[in-house]
This record gives sequence, C-alpha cells and structure tokens, in this order.
Amino acid sequence: MSGQNVTIIGLQWGDEGKGKVVDAVAGTCRYVVRYCGGANAGHTVIVGDEKYALHLIPSGILHSGVRNVIGNGVAFDPAVALEEIEGFRSRGVEVGDENLAISSAANVVMPWHKLADRLNEQRLGSGKIGTTARGIGPLYSDKAARTLAVRTGDLLDADVLTEKITRIAEVKNTIFSALYAHDEPINAEAVCGEYLDYGRRLAGMITDTGAVLRRAIAEGSRICFEGGQGSMLDIDHGTFPFVTSSPVTACGVPAGAGVPPKAVGCVVGIAKAYTSRVGAGPFPTEQDNETGNRLRERGHEYGTTTGRPRRCGWFDAVAVKYAAELSGVDELALMLLDVLSGFETICICTGYRLDGKDIGPFDSIPAAMGAAECVYEEMPGWDEDIAPAKEFSDLPANARAYVERIESLTGRPVGLISVGPERKQTILHNTQLKAPAQCNT
Ligand code: IMP
Repeated sequence: MSGQNVTIIGLQWGDEGKGKVVDAVAGTCRYVVRYCGGANAGHTVIVGDEKYALHLIPSGILHSGVRNVIGNGVAFDPAVALEEIEGFRSRGVEVGDENLAISSAANVVMPWHKLADRLNEQRLGSGKIGTTARGIGPLYSDKAARTLAVRTGDLLDADVLTEKITRIAEVKNTIFSALYAHDEPINAEAVCGEYLDYGRRLAGMITDTGAVLRRAIAEGSRICFEGGQGSMLDIDHGTFPFVTSSPVTACGVPAGAGVPPKAVGCVVGIAKAYTSRVGAGPFPTEQDNETGNRLRERGHEYGTTTGRPRRCGWFDAVAVKYAAELSGVDELALMLLDVLSGFETICICTGYRLDGKDIGPFDSIPAAMGAAECVYEEMPGWDEDIAPAKEFSDLPANARAYVERIESLTGRPVGLISVGPERKQTILHNTQLKAPAQCNT
C-alpha cells in the first residue's frame, strides 16, 4: 500500500456501491473528502433499520469523530446540502462545523444552471445526454468561463454576491431569451436573498479545505477520498460526450481536493458484479432483453437521484481493466454479487472486436465502445442465496470461480465482496486495507 490514505472510485458508469465501501472504511479515517461531481451523485447507506440517501454530504457523516470535507472540485448546491443536513439532524445525526467543512472555492450551483441543464437537454432532443438535471454541466462550464461563476466563499459577502448575481443574471437572461426563447427573467434580488440566507446558515462550515487537508497530511491523519459517478463517465477519459463534467477518477483527487498527488494513497476501485448505466451513450455489454430486465429487478436498478430505470448488462472486464489501469487501482471491491444468484450461466466480456480485429488493452477503449463487438466467456452460475455468506469459503464454488476469473482478467485482487446492502453483508477477501483496529490516527 503506497501510503495510508484511501481513494475510493467507481470503475463503471456510476452506482457501483461506493457509498457502502466508503462507509466501511470511514471509521478508520479522520477525514472523508468529496472532490468531484455534486448532487448528481446518489449513495445509499443502510445502518440497521435506517436507510440514508446521500447526494452531497460525504459518506463519513454517519461516523462520529470523522471530519467530512466538500472539496473545491465539487459542484456545490447549498439547497441540497442544507436539506441533507436538516434530514440528518432530524434523525439524531449531528452535523456542524465540527464534522463538516465546505471549500470556500467550491463553485455554487445557481438556479440558472438547473434551468440551462433542462433547456439544453430539451433542445438536444433525441441526441440528449440524459443528465440528472442537477445543473452540473452548466455549472462546470461557468467555472471554466470564470467571470460567470459564484464560489461558496462569495455567499458570505453580501456586496460581492449582489454584484456577481446582478451581473451574471443579465448575461443569463440574454442567453436564455436568444437561445431557448425563454423569456422569464431571473429575479436577481430574490436569488441574492435566497443565497445570502444559505451563506448565513452554512457560514461556520465554509473554509479553505485544501489548507485543512494539507495540515492533516502533515500531521499524519488518515484521509479517505470519496469519488462520485464512475470512471467511464469521466469528463476526459470516459465515453465522451456521454459523460459528466468533472474528473471523477483517482486522477481528479489532487486538483479537486487541493492535495498533492501522493496523497491519493491506496486506490480501491468499485465495480458491480454486472454493469449498469443510466442516461445515453455506449454500453457494450448492455442486455436490452429479459436478462437485463432480470438484473434490473434483482438489483433494484433505479436511480437514487432521478428514479430512472438503469440500463443493465454483463460484467465488462475490458472496461474495468481500462479504468483500473487509469487510476492505478490497487484492489477491487466487487459489489452486488448476490444479484447474480439464480442465473444458470453468467457471461463476462473478456475482449472487444472491431472490424474483425481484437482491441488491445492499450488501445482507446472508450472510443471503441460505440462500435465494438463483445467477446464473451460463459461461466456456470449458482442457485444458492449468498446473502448470509461471511467468508469467501462460504460462497458456492461457481461464485468463487467467478470472482477469481474477474481477478485474473483485470489483473487486480478483489479485496472486498458485497453480498447485500447491509454493513455486515461484506466479505473481506484479498484486501490490503488496514482494519479499523490497526488505524491509530
Ligand atoms: P450529469 O452529471 O447530470 O451532467 O449527467 C451526465 C451523465 O452522467 C448522465 O448519463 C447521467 O445519468 C450520468 N450520471 C451523473 N451522475 C451519476 C451518478 O452518480 N451515477 C450514475 N450516473 C450518473
């Protein structure tokens, strides 16, 4: 393990179950940090009888003694954050400046970002990306444009915020009217009032989180970086343009959190035992048939954020190996293995063929995805209910063979196997991660 920090990222198209793994690791860490994406993410953590749906707040919030950080790379929606904070407080989970810090340099999702996301998708019609409509793409566009961005720190200064909102609203009104014939002007004064109120309510938590984390590194505190979405949705390395708008792989950690690249530490790549995708874009192993429907129903594959039914298909070892190589993944966590119980045979995609030729591991995988044919290997399934399994040896032989085949195809050990949504339904296998008792920081 190259350092004590842990970075947890998705290796497919999101919804791999990162929240459960972050939750399992969080208790061994002093900090849990979000560095990319925003309220487009959706994690579900189940503790006992309680189910918590998280969008913006890091998954460490359910552990006492963990400081949670929303880094500068996050698309910060204060309305969503406050709703989640109030939701936690009403269920007895303390949230305050002791355990949540928000970067003053994070860019703020404004009402016009959500409107632009919706209008833009409408304009694209059948060519749409299928976004979550959370304003993510328009926010990151404005971040890159610089003069149209509002940062979290601005919410604390009435003069700065009023000047920015008044000026930006004028530009947005012109664009909405010209491009989308949308002639309902933004009420800049009302938006100022609303966002100043958010600033007042969040004031104690807004700070320079990069400085906080660099101090934590100097002191030797253990940090968990929590990825959002999945590697194949990465703005640079995913199936562009059917991607999200931020760098979601482990490569995004340093810039999105304000820490040196070495701080990334041990990289755990999360993959489902099959594949799902929500929204448009290439998906080579998609099963738009009875198999896909069965995976969707067994895996409850409906979006946490939007409720949309997810597209489902077989495990794609080519995509997962690509994503693992890109982020330097040390080990995999294989999620939702229980969903595959009852399939007579299970297919794994072991290669792509394009124009009669094999695609090699270092060819452009995302570019090939739109047209490549999958080469499948069939493996025998198992009928047993594996949800109660506690050890690797409790799994049926065919399930163990499936896990081992994934290890050999991706060249990565499977550190952890999830066989159900609850914390206890987790099998530790070939993991290098420190157990909670070994972590003293
Ligand atoms: P956006 O991030 O809302 O702009 O959406 C861009 C694409 O990423 C769409 O296909 C979304 O469905 C997908 N996406 C964004 N966030 C997530 C996520 O957390 N899980 C799965 N898909 C996501």
